[in-house]
Amino acid sequence: MGNSILNITPLRRMRRLRSSEAMRDLLRENHLLLDNLIHPIFVEEHIDQPVPISTLPGISRIPENALADEIRQLYALGIRYVMPFGISHTKDAQGSDTWNDNGLLARMVKTIKSAVPEMMVIPDICFCEYTDHGHCGVMKNDKVCNDMTVENLVKQSVTAAKAGADMLAPSAMMDGQVKAIRLGLDAAGFEDVAILAHSAKFASSFYGPFRTAVDCELSGDRKGYQLDYANGRQALLEASLDEAEGADILMVKPGTPYLDVICRLRQETHLPLAAYQVGGEYAGIKFAALAGALDEKAVVTETFIGLKRAGADLIVSYYTKQYATWLIEEK
Ligand code: PBG
Ligand code: ZN
Repeated sequence: MGNSILNITPLRRMRRLRSSEAMRDLLRENHLLLDNLIHPIFVEEHIDQPVPISTLPGISRIPENALADEIRQLYALGIRYVMPFGISHTKDAQGSDTWNDNGLLARMVKTIKSAVPEMMVIPDICFCEYTDHGHCGVMKNDKVCNDMTVENLVKQSVTAAKAGADMLAPSAMMDGQVKAIRLGLDAAGFEDVAILAHSAKFASSFYGPFRTAVDCELSGDRKGYQLDYANGRQALLEASLDEAEGADILMVKPGTPYLDVICRLRQETHLPLAAYQVGGEYAGIKFAALAGALDEKAVVTETFIGLKRAGADLIVSYYTKQYATWLIEEK
């Protein structure tokens, strides 16, 4: 094969296909639409002013009482999908605020849906922002207890669905969580609420900025439940379990450092795939751009296309609002 390529090189001039903008536009394999992006938002209870997040310049915690306005603004920019994260002042050992019908999670979902009913709400389903120890579930002998946590995840999921969530994004990485949530939703009459599963969620240092953003109390790490970042095959196995358990969309997280996982998963499943461009990825680009080291819009676009090229249909990104603004400026 090497030889035959060498032999045809003068005949097959690749530059012909790059010779003009029109030619390049004609042949571009991947495109990004605003409809491919999901915007995560941080919503804090009991505050009156937005709190800028030092580790994620340009992103703030929104006071709960300003959430409706923010949602109307996002929708006016063309954003149709949001993933709310709560910053709780009501933490306990279990994160029980998450299954209270008047808790922060339920209130965020209701506020978003009543501000803009067309806005699709996809809350993160986990406990770490609501537990006083910062782990993603109930502790038992210094470990997160899988099965007790799964029971609580079902309660949280039904509460979010009752409040009006369109899709749920369970991120706790407990075994069997997708199946239990699917059965729980169905039993409660929410068979149309979809599950965007954090299937291959790696124990990543790229989550550092996020943990500051949500005031996570965690000391220690999540290596006992999140994937070891050295393991590609295990990630595929996690994803196939979630598929068998009834997940509607499979997600890989973080995004760019795990393009190989997205690409391999794309060959193995016919489900839609999502990639989560996490806080550390955002911060890496943002701080470099603030230092004048790179062209922010160009790099963000290239990164998004890279995720799509690897096989992601959807991207969760803190750059969504900025990207929507860039699109409007281009017009
Ligand atoms: C926790 C959760 C995490 C993120 C979303 N939900 C991180 C963690 O495991 O601490 C990370 C998002 C980001 O880093 O941007 N369930
Ligand atoms: Zn968590």
